Amino acid sequence: MSLKTSPKTNTSFKNDVHTGLTAFPKYLYSKYIYDEKGDKLFQDIMNLPEYYLTNCEFNILSLHTTEIAELFSNTETGFDLIELGAGDGKKTKILLRYLADNEFEFVYKPIDISKNAIDSLTNSLATELPRVTVDGEKGMYFEVLERLQKYDSRKKVLMVLGSNIGNLLHPKAIDFLTKLKGIMGPEDLLFMGFDQKKNPQTILDAYNDATGVTAAFNKNLLHRINRELSANFNVDNFKHWEVYDPESGTAKSFLVATEAMEVSIKALDLHINFDIWETIHTEISQKYDDKTVQWLADSAGLTIETSFKDEKGYYKNYVFRRK
Ligand code: AVJ
Repeated sequence: MSLKTSPKTNTSFKNDVHTGLTAFPKYLYSKYIYDEKGDKLFQDIMNLPEYYLTNCEFNILSLHTTEIAELFSNTETGFDLIELGAGDGKKTKILLRYLADNEFEFVYKPIDISKNAIDSLTNSLATELPRVTVDGEKGMYFEVLERLQKYDSRKKVLMVLGSNIGNLLHPKAIDFLTKLKGIMGPEDLLFMGFDQKKNPQTILDAYNDATGVTAAFNKNLLHRINRELSANFNVDNFKHWEVYDPESGTAKSFLVATEAMEVSIKALDLHINFDIWETIHTEISQKYDDKTVQWLADSAGLTIETSFKDEKGYYKNYVFRRK
C-alpha cells in the first residue's frame, strides 16, 4: 500500500484530480490508484517475478528474525508493535510467529487504509497465530499518527514495510519521518524498509513488467476517474511509461497520450485536452543508499541504530531511534 494521506471524502479526490489535470505538466497522485481494483492489482504486482521488493524484505525478516525480535523486545513491560500500511501482513507474520513461539509480551496493532485488509488480517491471525493479541485499526497514516500519541505507557515499535516511503519526494519523506519521530519516546524504535539503488535495469524491469500488470495498475487511475467522476477517458489511448534516473535514484511513472484527444469529466464539469504524446505523471518510487537514508534521518531528528539487508543487497530495513 502507499502512503495514503487523504481520500477522506470524495472531495479531496475531486480536488486533486482537478488540480492535477489542469496543471502543466499534468499529474495525478499515486495514492488514488488503490481502490478495490488497485489493491488487487498491487497484490498481483507483489507476485511478479520482476517485482523483487517483497521477496527481498521477506528474506530480510526470515534471515534476521531473532535479532530483530531481540531489538524490539522489552522484558519488563513488553511492547506495542504498530504497523502502518499492514496490508495482508505476509512479511510481518514471520516475525509475529517467532515472537509468539518464544512468548514475547507484545500487542500487534496493524493499521491500514483498507477496512477489508484489517478484517482479513485479523481473521487470519486468529487462526494462524491465536496467541498474538491483535488490535487492528482502519485509518490513514497521518490521521492515525495523532491517535498513536497515546501509546506512551510502554515501549513501542513503529513499522513501515514495503519501501512505501519511496512514493514521497525527499522533503515529504522528511516531513513524514519527523511526524513519526514526534510520537516516539527515547526507548521507541522505527523499523522501516528502503529499496536500494541497484542495476538500473533491475529497477526498470520491476516497474515495467513483461505481462503488463504494472501498466494496468497505473492505468487504474484513469479507470477510477471514469468510474467515480463520470469521465470518458479512452484508457487504450494511454501508454504506461517508466523511467529510472540512476543519479537521483528516482523511478517515475507516466501515462503518455498516444493521440490528441479531449476528455470530459462530468463530476468536475471539466474538459481536458491532450496533445499527442502529452504526459500525466503518476508515481515516484524512490531508491536509496546509506548516505541518503542517513541524511533523511538527520533531517528528521532520528539516528540509525542498525540496518539489515537481504542476500542480494537489493533492499534494507533500517532501525531508527529519536536523536
Ligand atoms: C507500494 C509504493 C512501495 O513504489 O514500489 C509497485 C507501488 N508501483 N509498482 C512501489 C508500486 C508500481 C510500490 N509501493
